[in-house]
Formats: sequence, structure tokens, C-alpha cells
Amino acid sequence: MTEVGEAHVLVSPFPAQGHVPPMLKLAEILSHAGLHVTFVNTDNIHRRFLASSPALQRLAGLPRFRFRTIPDGLPEDHPRPFLQFLDLEESLRTRSREHYRELLVPTGKDPDGWPPVTCAVADGILRLASEVAAEMEIPVIFVRTSGACAVWAYLCIPDLIKGGEIPFPEEEEEKEEDGLDETIRGVPGMEGFLRRRDLPSFCRNAKSTSDRSLQFVTNANANVRRGRGLILNTFEALEGPVLSHIRSAIPISYALGPLHLLSRTFDDCGADAPLSSNSASLWQEDRSCLKWLDSQPQRSVVYISFGSVTMMSRDELMEFWHGLVDSGKRFLWVVRPDLAEGKIEEAIQEDLEKETKERGCLVGWAPQEEVLAHPAVACFLTHSGWNSTLESVAAGVPMICWPFFADQPVNSRFVGDVWRFGVDMKDKRGRSVVERMVREVMEGERAEELRRSAGEMAELARRSVGEGGSSYRDFENLVKDIKAMSR
Ligand code: UDX
Repeated sequence: MTEVGEAHVLVSPFPAQGHVPPMLKLAEILSHAGLHVTFVNTDNIHRRFLASSPALQRLAGLPRFRFRTIPDGLPEDHPRPFLQFLDLEESLRTRSREHYRELLVPTGKDPDGWPPVTCAVADGILRLASEVAAEMEIPVIFVRTSGACAVWAYLCIPDLIKGGEIPFPEEEEEKEEDGLDETIRGVPGMEGFLRRRDLPSFCRNAKSTSDRSLQFVTNANANVRRGRGLILNTFEALEGPVLSHIRSAIPISYALGPLHLLSRTFDDCGADAPLSSNSASLWQEDRSCLKWLDSQPQRSVVYISFGSVTMMSRDELMEFWHGLVDSGKRFLWVVRPDLAEGKIEEAIQEDLEKETKERGCLVGWAPQEEVLAHPAVACFLTHSGWNSTLESVAAGVPMICWPFFADQPVNSRFVGDVWRFGVDMKDKRGRSVVERMVREVMEGERAEELRRSAGEMAELARRSVGEGGSSYRDFENLVKDIKAMSR
């Protein structure tokens, strides 16, 4: 029989904000469960996270947890915009291979006297990890940081291509608006519901089957299907039916979400303890907004954030800004330094002084989990990134979805039309739409309804991570399966 301490997992996320924090949470609970955990960051990401996240220092102090870093192969002064993730992935795969191999199967003795790596837990889009682990015959369990609804749509892409549904037929291009409302047949469980406009953005943008992003997704799918299992940051009560479809393709799929709540079940405080700044971020959090929220009436504030990578044109941003001002509501808005071209604070400063001084607060980066849990927050205007979506679900906060790319169009469709705790403003941008949707989610009967369904799902999220809950059970199974690999 293998002793508990003998299992050793090498956890490797794709180096980006949407990917590293959820995998850190997963790594932390694996370590709490008695496994040795080596967490692999790129040098660049690790430096940035260390500078802004106390959570990293705390993790480094855990007894069976350690960080290791590898270069990403890009020049020091490369801006590494996430939107060029294909270049980053390629660079890692080709230039960082030896570094990764040395962590997976070291040539010398382990400096800490740890056992050899028995299992790789790798981001499904990180081909570096899957290829090297296959070469070295180490079992891999993959993690996808998107929701099950998007992962299932991704997994169906080869069938959509085979069935001629993507790339979208050319004759439709002229009447693009009508074409985008056509429903998709090739995603089982979503037939007649998912429209072309709701598919992951790679499908919508692809002009041919040799499109680089489409190829990338197809490779990631093939990867994930070859693993010993798939970990998803979701929970049965939210995505049970879609999870069943995924399990028809990948039978061993663990739904462990919301990971940020599950990790609190396993730390000393428990899932219901008050939040503290425990997250990992690429930017320094501006905590002054919590004080500002303290001075606002209950459920009066729209919280706005577009995640870590979305960028807008200046026109888009101004249109949005006017909609927000016209709604007359209080707001807390995260304006990342690189959210739009040029210094947008200057453009809106005048309005801010004139009209919104009392009712608006701008920050560069917020402690989002804490903001969403604050009683003054009434709704979340989000880009529908999966982490943001799940954090909002966990906090019971209704959403106004303004999706941009990748999995976001699928997520927002589910929020608006399946789970019904938000509204989807996809492809309908403009100041009057922003104003109308903010009012819809903040005022009257509809607002009450949305808040009620959001509250009910938040309760189910809490139950799923508690002892005996579905995510808790899946986590126990995951640990059992990893330990079995080290025998
Ligand atoms: C990206 C994609 O957008 C997303 O669709 C995909 O699922 C993962 O990669 P990102 O755009 O950063 O991620 O969005 P999201 O997944 O929502 O992650 C953003 C994270 O940053 C959240 O955990 C959120 O709490 C955090 N955040 C955001 C802050 O801590 N403070 C902020 O001010 C804004």
C-alpha cells in the first residue's frame, strides 16, 4: 500500500490571470489533502504575482507545497498580451521543453527529498505539458478553466466542422445579422438553443478550417481526450446536464467548483468565513473601494469589470460610459491601465467631476471576490469570463453580460437564458442598451426575480463545496485516483 505522502503532482497552468488563480486554488487543496504539490509558473508571471499577491507567500509556506519557475521563451521586454496567446503557447512548447522535462522527471536527486512526480495536473491548453508527460509516460489529468457549457461547445468543434456548420457558410456573410441568429445543430443538448453568435469567438472568426485559433482549439480537445481525467471549475447544480454530455466523451470528469469556495472549505476558516484578500492577481488590488462601498446604501451599486485581458476601442468605452452615467445608478468601475487605448481617465474625468463624483468610484484593480460579497453591490456588469461568472454565481449577484471573446459568448447565453440570473447584451452595444439593461437588473419585478434565482444558485454553490456536496465528493475521488497512480 502506498503511503499518503508518496503522491506528487506537478501542477502547470497556462500563464495568464484567468488560468493561474483557479489552478493555484486547486493546487492548494491538493496539498491540504496530503499530496506533494509542485506548482509551475513562468518566470514572468511568478514575478508579477509575487509583487502583487500576498497569497503566494502564504502558499509557499505550506509544508507540501512549492513553486518552481520556467522561462516562457519570449524576450524580457515582450509585452505578452494575452490576445497573442497562440505565440506564448508555441514559445513554451518549443523553447521551454527541457526546463519542463527537468521538473517532471529530474535528472538529479530532488533537493527537498520529495518523491518523484506521479501525476501531472496540466492546463488543457498547455500542449507543452501534455506532450512532455506523454514522452515521459507520466499520467496527466487536465484542467479546463472555462465552464462546462463552453468546454462542451469546444469539444464539439470537430463535429461542427464535419457537419459544415463552421466556418459559417459564405452565402450568409452578406446578411450577417440574420445569419448569426441561426441555431446550431452539432452541440448535443444545445440544439435549437445555441445560436451562431453564442459559439466561442474562434468559431465566429474562422474563415477556413485551417484558421490558427480553430486548429489550436482542436489540438486542445485532442489533448484533453487523451488524459486520465478532466477537472472543471463548475458544479453539478449549475451545469449537471452539460457535464453528462462531457462525461459521454470523457468519462472521468471531476466538477470541483466553485474552486474559490472549495478551497475555503479546506483551509482553517471554512466556506462561510468572511473573505480576506486571499486571491492571486497580476495587479495590485486597490482596497480603498471597499471603504467606498461601506458608505453606499445596500444593493445600490453596479460593479463593472471586464477581466484581465479584454480591451475596448475608445469609442466603445465612451458609449459604455454614457450609458452608465445616463442610468443614474451608483457604480464601482475597474478601469485597468490597459483597458482602452490612450488615457481614458482623462476623457471621463470631466463627467466624473460634474455628474458622478458622489456616485462613482474608479479603481485600477479591485479585490473582486470581496467586492461581489459586499452588501452594497446590486449587480455585476461583466465581460462573462468564466472566473468572474462563477464568482458572481457564488456571491448571488445578478449579471449584465457584455461578452467579448473566447468562451464569453457561451457563458453569457447560459446566464441570460438557461440559469436566468442575468441579461445578455451580446452584440447590442450602445449607450441606450447599457442604460436599459442596468435599469432592468436594478429596478422592479424583473430585478427581484433575477436576484431570487441568483440567491438560490449561490446557496446550491455553497452546498456543493460542503462535506457531502457534489464538488466535495468529486474532489475526494480525484485525490483517491491520484494516490492510486503512485502505487
Ligand atoms: C480569460 C477569459 O476572458 C475567460 O473568458 C476565460 O475563461 C479565462 O481567461 P479573464 O478575461 O481574465 O480570463 O476573465 P475571468 O475568467 O473572469 O478572470 C478574471 C479574474 O480576475 C477573476 O478571478 C477576478 O476575480 C479577477 N479580477 C478581475 C480581480 O481580482 N480584480 C479585478 O479588478 C478584476
